Amino acid sequence: MPERYTVPKVENYFTEALSKSANELRAALKRETAQLIIEASKRDQSFHLELKAFRDRWLGRKTGIISQINEIWLHGAPAEHKKAVGQIVNELRGEIERDVIEAIDGAQAISSLSDVDVREVTSDLKQILLERDRLDITLPGIRRPVGAEHPVIKALNEIVSVFKAMGYSVSEGPEIETDYYNFEALNFPPNHPARDTQDTLFIAGQQSKPPRERLLLRTHTSPVQIRTMENLAPPIRVVIPGKVHRNDAPDASHSPMFHQVEGLAVDTSITFCDLKGTLDHAMKALFGSRVRTRFQPSFFPFTEPSAEVAISCIFCRGKGCRTCKQSGWIELLGCGMVDPNVFEFVRDNGYDPAKVSGFAFGMGADRIALLKYGVDDIQLFFQGDVRFLEQFA
Ligand code: DAH
Repeated sequence: MPERYTVPKVENYFTEALSKSANELRAALKRETAQLIIEASKRDQSFHLELKAFRDRWLGRKTGIISQINEIWLHGAPAEHKKAVGQIVNELRGEIERDVIEAIDGAQAISSLSDVDVREVTSDLKQILLERDRLDITLPGIRRPVGAEHPVIKALNEIVSVFKAMGYSVSEGPEIETDYYNFEALNFPPNHPARDTQDTLFIAGQQSKPPRERLLLRTHTSPVQIRTMENLAPPIRVVIPGKVHRNDAPDASHSPMFHQVEGLAVDTSITFCDLKGTLDHAMKALFGSRVRTRFQPSFFPFTEPSAEVAISCIFCRGKGCRTCKQSGWIELLGCGMVDPNVFEFVRDNGYDPAKVSGFAFGMGADRIALLKYGVDDIQLFFQGDVRFLEQFA
């Protein structure tokens, strides 16, 4: 019989540690019992010797395991622990006596069974021997919940698919961007106040680099307009979903990390009418055909003219409510005709501002998700609470 239990010394007499030792002893006795039964099933001539050895090891008057736990655990215990240790040892003694006698009875019975019976019994017992890796089928199973799209990703995908249906392709760009793509090539001159509106998070330790090569967390998806035009000659129609960062304090409508979908269409005769028609259609596709759009003049360095687009409030249909602050309108995105200065940066790739024109737009996907799914706090999207998120599955 391999693996024989020996009584360990006690270092720690607190009940918890001692119960652990007691449980280890119980497990060892179970293992040895199972091994004994396997041996019994072989019905060797010498089995009665093994039985006797087993009995003596556990119950033997002087050196059996019961005597040892009495000696090592109880007698060795400091006075203040004696009572508790005594209780544990007593309990254990009763259990060992009972289990060892049962094991011996069982083993004797098995050693006198017929071949066929023995095979059945032992195959069960081999199972028990695999104590440590045993599968307890009474334990609750491990649930593996099916994952689901995050509501913001869901909104991003929905927005993208509206434009895909109009023939747009999809592009992506890096979240760590250079000053050149995030600002300069988008016609934000150095030190221009428009940069301040972007609350940029800069990567530290970039002072030794020329300004345009310094790295930052992109504040918008617009830099991918330039990257796309560097790679693809006109005509293009592209949407760009992605994550952006700004140094904003988090509150119900702001998050330092959020998502945008950028759009860009460049061709030989694109007009502001195309822009209006495209965005009006997209808003109706996203929020329902009753929704109306409103374009108001605005300013962005990379578009001229620029506009701010609002949709009629989807909650009150434009009558005025708390969500639209009684105005009847919800501002949703920025857009405009691509500024010729922007084309100058990619002129060599076929974007001669005298020959091509285009429009661009950018919208916040988190804000659209808030509106579409009736959520009133953007923070809920990013706290990772499954109870909230699973509602969108
Ligand atoms: N990038 C702008 C922002 O984050 C949004 C935007 C406005 C994008 C107008 C555009 C645009 O492409 O034409 O505030």
